[in-house]
Amino acid sequence: VILYVRGSFVPDSQAVISVLDRGFLYGDAVYETVRSAGGKILFWSDHEQRLHHSAHLLGIDIGPGSPDPLAILKELLGRNDLADARLRLVVTRGAGDRDQLTGFVPSWVVLCEPFTPPGEEFYAAGIRAVRVATVRNAVASLNPEIKSCNLLNNSLARREAIARDAQEGVMLNPQGFLAEGAFSNLFWVDAGGRLSTPALSVGILPGVTRQKVLLVARRAGLTVREVEARPEELDAAREIFLTSTSWEVLGVTTWNGSPVGDGREGARARSLRAALRRLYDEPGESR
Ligand SMILES: Cc1ncc(COP(=O)(O)O)c(C=O)c1O
Repeated sequence: VILYVRGSFVPDSQAVISVLDRGFLYGDAVYETVRSAGGKILFWSDHEQRLHHSAHLLGIDIGPGSPDPLAILKELLGRNDLADARLRLVVTRGAGDRDQLTGFVPSWVVLCEPFTPPGEEFYAAGIRAVRVATVRNAVASLNPEIKSCNLLNNSLARREAIARDAQEGVMLNPQGFLAEGAFSNLFWVDAGGRLSTPALSVGILPGVTRQKVLLVARRAGLTVREVEARPEELDAAREIFLTSTSWEVLGVTTWNGSPVGDGREGARARSLRAALRRLYDEPGESR
């Protein structure tokens, strides 16, 4: 495949970056994972806004004079002859004076790979998730709102989950409230049928998919709560599901080793995924 590295479109075998780049040395970089479907970048303006927000919080300058990310994404789709793809846009601080923190020119890198969502059987079966001991970064340490390439917190949580034969690990925040998955946002349906998700105030990534699922759920007239909740709430949940750009809406059918509901995907997850997919085609949502 063809990738984009610092101004050039190159085959992946030639896509290289300096070892002096702070993205490599420190994870000092921001990123977005986006999808295209039928050649359109899904929810682009939301991803673009979050990219700018992340860069702003780290003081990485992606203002005027920077590359046009949407143009690069489109160019990559064209050069790779792909309509349905997953693309990863990375902007590092670049290389510079490590003591004075000056002289940086951000490095823009965009990866691209073919992507088709998993089939209905995968969604019907759902996945196993566990509560992990790894605690989500404190807001005052490394704000989870920043979508940064410093992903060790997430990676440790995912490793813990895999070691326990699960596909995703759910982290608590330092105060013991439910936060999010290693690479996904968390939702559940309680015994009363209310849809719940951790509030942004808990200290989580403001997922684009999370926001869109909240939108379609409210439009459908569901009762939705954004809450600071204890993990015990999940043990009593009728349905649990996770959201992300890649997974869309994916049911957790085994929670900490026990079946959730009847052990198959729940009705809420299924209908919200369908509603999310309909949103892709709404004017203004995809570019
Ligand atoms: C920690 C974390 N939470 C949530 C998400 C889901 O975010 P989005 O829906 O924007 O893909 C991700 C995506 O990678 C993530 O890394």
